[in-house]
Amino acid sequence: MLEGKRLAIVGVGTIGEALLRGLRRAGVAVDVVGSVRHPESLARVEALGARATCSNAEAAAGADVVVLAVKPQVMPRVLDDLAGHVRAPALVVTVAAGVPTARVEEALGQVPVVRVMPNTPSVLGAGMSVLCRGRFAGDADLALARALFDRVGRTAVLDEGLMDAVTGLSGSGPAYIYLVIESLAEAGVKVGIPRETSTLLAAQTVLGSARMVLELGKHPALLKDDVTTPAGCTVDGLMELEEGKLRVTLLKAVVRATERARGLAPRREGA
Ligand SMILES: NC(=O)c1ccc[n+]([C@@H]2O[C@H](COP(=O)([O-])OP(=O)(O)OC[C@H]3O[C@@H](n4cnc5c(N)ncnc54)[C@H](OP(=O)(O)O)[C@@H]3O)[C@@H](O)[C@H]2O)c1
Repeated sequence: MLEGKRLAIVGVGTIGEALLRGLRRAGVAVDVVGSVRHPESLARVEALGARATCSNAEAAAGADVVVLAVKPQVMPRVLDDLAGHVRAPALVVTVAAGVPTARVEEALGQVPVVRVMPNTPSVLGAGMSVLCRGRFAGDADLALARALFDRVGRTAVLDEGLMDAVTGLSGSGPAYIYLVIESLAEAGVKVGIPRETSTLLAAQTVLGSARMVLELGKHPALLKDDVTTPAGCTVDGLMELEEGKLRVTLLKAVVRATERARGLAPRREGA
């Protein structure tokens, strides 16, 4: 489905680069052109095996899929650049947090738009991307966008009304988990484990636990029970986490990030 397609990535920053690296890593034979703002970024994009330009219109010309991966506040300027240069059947994929498909359609006309919320582990093929479609996107458009993000991790489809919530959970989520890993590793150092080994223990424990949930399909509470021996040491650790309000803290983190995503609707820079 993807082989031989022409892909434009408008804004090859953290997430555009993660997508590009992930596609290369998966061996997907797509012809990619990436655009950036600063001329000094061009070499970085070329080093990823893509053609590079500072012209968004040039990047989009003749592309089968145009991925918009600039910051939400830069989106109005980029949509202005692309107006008249992107036409159906080209598919527009926007990954910008808080930018509705209707905003992209309003600027570009009746083009198929799929909105995606990916995350940075896409760079390793371990991403989580949630997709929703705009008014003019059909099943084939959604399937093409999904094929793209399936190559860099797992995908799910939800209603557009949930995209801000997805941003607060899986879009921002890697940052929360890095904080957990960092803290567990620090704790290991506190109880005498060398830092490098402690980081390995913490990260592999997070990875293994996530795989248990995903691959065994068991509820996390039941998996927790399997680790918690009566009167053992795990229950003492869990008591500390409950006292420290870990659950409600994580819950509030997702709620706050969701609310923030809602407030990211694009305005012109400087406005
Ligand atoms: N980072 C994440 O974890 C994550 C996760 C999910 C979704 N997203 C979404 O992905 C989008 C990009 O975020 P990011 O973290 O990747 O941002 P970023 O690292 O700051 O990258 C933005 C890129 O856009 C380029 N750019 C800026 N102005 C431009 C213009 N007028 N025309 C063309 N390119 C332009 C920049 O070029 P230069 O390199 O030359 O400065 C840079 O490469 C955001 O909308 C965000 O909501 C991010």
